[in-house]
Amino acid sequence: MSGAGALIGPPVRDAVEAAVTALAAAGCSTPRLDAEVLIADALGADRAVLHTEPDRAVTGAEARVIGERVRRRVAREPVAYILGRRGFRRIELFVDLRVLIPRPETELLVEVALEPPAGARVHDVGTGSGAVALALMDERPDLTVTASDASAAAVGVARANAARLGLALEVSIHRGLPEGDFHLVLANLPYVREDEWDGLAPEIRRYEPREALVSGEDGLDAIRDLCAAAPSGTRLALEHAPGQAADVRALLAGAETLSDLAGRERVTVGLVP
Ligand SMILES: C[S@@+](CC[C@H](N)C(=O)[O-])C[C@H]1O[C@@H](n2cnc3c(N)ncnc32)[C@H](O)[C@@H]1O
Repeated sequence: MSGAGALIGPPVRDAVEAAVTALAAAGCSTPRLDAEVLIADALGADRAVLHTEPDRAVTGAEARVIGERVRRRVAREPVAYILGRRGFRRIELFVDLRVLIPRPETELLVEVALEPPAGARVHDVGTGSGAVALALMDERPDLTVTASDASAAAVGVARANAARLGLALEVSIHRGLPEGDFHLVLANLPYVREDEWDGLAPEIRRYEPREALVSGEDGLDAIRDLCAAAPSGTRLALEHAPGQAADVRALLAGAETLSDLAGRERVTVGLVP
């Protein structure tokens, strides 16, 4: 090896322990997991290597990358933004500050969308990184899936993800539901209440787009607008906070709410009256 990469830093065990200490002091809730994920990725290795080869020397170049990553995480930047990617169902998405980091609970919205018959047209409103639409296309290539978002920046990310994954997703810049004849419309729109924002974790408040999360006094402005503007008879599947389920059911006809694995009401499906 030549150049900066040849300068030998500490054994990986010491790098991990130093990172865990710094992240714990910064208030990160999973300091060891975060440290291991960030360091293993910087070494281009699997996390297991940190345990099977604790004496492996960290090169000078690797030490600099690790130091920079730890500094960012100490500032409470989410691991997904630092790595620039997040796994969602069977796919991996590129993410940056322009889009919300896809959440595990949103996988329930994709499960709802697995049900339509072959050839059905499904639209994802507020697609962000493209997570829901792209995961659905990956799992149900027989459906016709389209997506849209009010944010032009988010649409750029969704299109980049579609290209990277080789999925021909059509993504438009649009607030609310674009015109079209859809069998099912999926939406993980913002649903955080204005007064909740200050109490959210620094990872969210300092880094994720506020307009992707907050939606008025009771958090339901975007969902209400969608229900009011969508053509009567449109079948909607809406993600929401557990405490909003009754209010969302009241916006739809024949509404039914599905719960996540923890038993929290997360997705309501019904028809626009
Ligand atoms: C909670 S994020 C969800 C992103 C993505 N669907 C996911 O699950 O990871 C909400 C997204 O909706 C977009 N958005 C907010 N209000 C909207 C509206 N009225 N119409 C369309 N998109 C909207 C935001 O730009 C953001 O990308």
